[in-house]
This record gives sequence, C-alpha cells and structure tokens, in this order.
Amino acid sequence: MSIQKKEFKKITTHVLLEMKQKGEKISMLTAYDFSMAKLVDQAGIDVILVGDSASNVMAGHETTLPITLDQMIYHASSVVRGIDRALVVVDLPFGSYQGNSKEALASTIRIMKESGAHAVKMEGGEEIIESIKRILTAGVPVMGHLGLTPQSIYKFGTYAVRATEEEEAEKLIHDSKLLEAAGCFALVLEKIPSKLAKRVAENLTIPVIGIGAGPDVDGQVLVLHDMLGINTEFKPRFLRKYADLHGIITGAVQHYVSDVKNRDFPNEKEQY
Ligand code: KIV
Repeated sequence: MSIQKKEFKKITTHVLLEMKQKGEKISMLTAYDFSMAKLVDQAGIDVILVGDSASNVMAGHETTLPITLDQMIYHASSVVRGIDRALVVVDLPFGSYQGNSKEALASTIRIMKESGAHAVKMEGGEEIIESIKRILTAGVPVMGHLGLTPQSIYKFGTYAVRATEEEEAEKLIHDSKLLEAAGCFALVLEKIPSKLAKRVAENLTIPVIGIGAGPDVDGQVLVLHDMLGINTEFKPRFLRKYADLHGIITGAVQHYVSDVKNRDFPNEKEQY
C-alpha cells in the first residue's frame, strides 16, 4: 500500500524559523474546538493557538484566570484531532506554572501527553525563566508572551497598551533577550507600541508574532471569534473583522425559528 504524498509541508518550529529568515510572514489564529480547528487548518493557517482566551470566548469568564489545566487539555485535544498541517501551541493556564518550575514541567507534560499538541506558550519574562528552562529540558518547544499578558490583569489594572514608558520598554527588551537565550522558539508581543515591537523583532533571531504590535514583526495572531465578528462588544483598534458571523448566525437562527413556528420546516423532502 502506498502512502499518498501530502501536498503541504507540516509546520514545525524549524519551518517558522525559516519563514523569519526568508521574510515570510507567519499567520496564527486561536481555535478551541475540533470543527473550527479543521476549518482554520484547511484554510492554510500556520499556527493554531489553543489560547487561554477560551476562558473568555468559550466559557464567558471576564478574565483568563479561571480556566483550568484540565479544561485547556480538553480544548487542545479537540483542536489536535482537527488539524493536519498547522503547529498547535497551547497556553499554560494561570496557576499551572508560575513560581514552581517542577509544576510547570508537570503541567506541560500533561498537555503534551493528553492532547497531542506540539508546543506550549507561557506569559512572562525573567520571573518564569527557570520554568521555561526546565520545560525545555523535556524537549518541549516553548513560545514566550510579553507586553499585555492577560494573566496579570489584576497587576496591570487595565487592558491598556503596555510598555509606553521607557522603564517598562527596557524591561520588555531585556526579557525578550532572556527568552531567546533560554531557548524559546518564538515570542508573542501583545498590545505594545509598534516601534518597540519592531525593535524587538529586529534584535531577535526567533520569530516575533504580534497582536496589537504593528506590522514590523514576523507574524500576526488574532482571537478567531473576534476576527470572525462573533463577538461584537470587543472592538480594540488593532482588531480587523474579516466577517460578520454575529449577523449571519443571528439571521440563520431567526430564519429557523420562524420556519419552525410557521410549520415550514421540515417540508416533505425533509422527512422519512
Ligand atoms: O489566549 C490567547 O488568545 C492569546 C492571544 C491573544 C495571543 O494569548
């Protein structure tokens, strides 16, 4: 029996590095379930992030803090079953890695074993370096995340742009270098000035992927539900809406309700 040769190249951390070297931009979106992951993968996305934003968009929490490791594993395993090509990165949730590198490694091993994902993402710089290094000893690729790190929302007090002042900008640059030196394969920069993001991307050899960080980085990431226009209340300046699924889904459901009420559905062909 011959194995059919796939037309596409599976995305690995090495492919992402090559993309940066060639100046080819990296596309990344979140997904949290099988059906959406399958659609997004087949549409040609490079990286799928099983973000802890699932806490907001899937579970309706106000912050990303409540989502648990078990819940992240459930979302990640559903996503992995839907993909053929994309690299799947999973957020380590709040409380599963901060302050204890052994726990960080144990949480990561559970994610990798139980979901089949390819890498993990962690928020923070110098304060989590020990955890990052320990995870890397197990051969698991780690993506960093600096700037607006939503797991620290109660420290920041607001979702406003980060690192606008020199001191915070300098710490971010310092942290980005530490993350690269520790061995992170990529870095997400969230909601920081474009000029700062450009400087970080130029200084690092690993890919830098931005969300609200301007155009001069190596790739872009958005939350799927935001860019598809499912969520109408969230309208930050950096968000471009590529569809109005809120309108489409509402219209379809209203149509269905009306067809049921009017005895128009099911018709003769739609029954046994
Ligand atoms: O959880 C998430 O969706 C994220 C992105 C916003 C980068 O971390």
